[in-house]
Amino acid sequence: MGKINWQMKELPAEKRALMKKMIKEVSEHENSQFDDMEKFMQHGTTTVRKHCINVAHVALFLTTKFGIEVDEEAMIRGCLLHDYFLYDWHDFHIEYLIHGWTHPGLSMRNAIRDFNIGEIEQDVIKHHMFPMTPFLPKTKEGWAIIFADKLCAGGETVGDRVNARREAKKYTGPRALKNVKTTGDTQHSKEEGKNADRIRRHGLGITHIGHGVLRRHRVAV
Ligand SMILES: [Fe+2]
Ligand SMILES: [Fe+2]
Repeated sequence: MGKINWQMKELPAEKRALMKKMIKEVSEHENSQFDDMEKFMQHGTTTVRKHCINVAHVALFLTTKFGIEVDEEAMIRGCLLHDYFLYDWHDFHIEYLIHGWTHPGLSMRNAIRDFNIGEIEQDVIKHHMFPMTPFLPKTKEGWAIIFADKLCAGGETVGDRVNARREAKKYTGPRALKNVKTTGDTQHSKEEGKNADRIRRHGLGITHIGHGVLRRHRVAV
């Protein structure tokens, strides 16, 4: 274990370059469905693909900052593929009710099928939901993702709420009418007024104009 770098606030340039290289490698790999993960939402308005990149970034940041020696390429590859399932787990489906427990195993099988990954990557993917799945990782890389995944899940969920609140503020108060975007049959000003009222009353419950709602809409199409 190396020294803790207290000064480090962001990934050094060479590690950012490594991240870029690994994303390109995973995305362009023969049989890769990595880019298809962009079609599905993970937390709030963050897609599964973006979430996996966030987790890889944070895992690399943590191990670098705390001077933990890991196989960086294997850890990043594992992180990029840790949620390598291709469905929207928010949809109602009997199997998705236990998604939290089943997706690590499924993602690992998918990653083995498409990428022929090694033991470290498998450990990272299979154990990333600890303690929800009560099996401990065997590698340092496997421990790093446990923290990185939780941090990202929290950040993405809370960040989304903050953005939604900021968005909702645009539609409240004196500037509400100006900012409300109308759709289809709600073109004239009377309807705009109704929209603004509805938004003012419901606060975060912004219906057809909410950022998240729009994103989900786009995914459903
Ligand atoms: Fe996961
Ligand atoms: Fe995750």
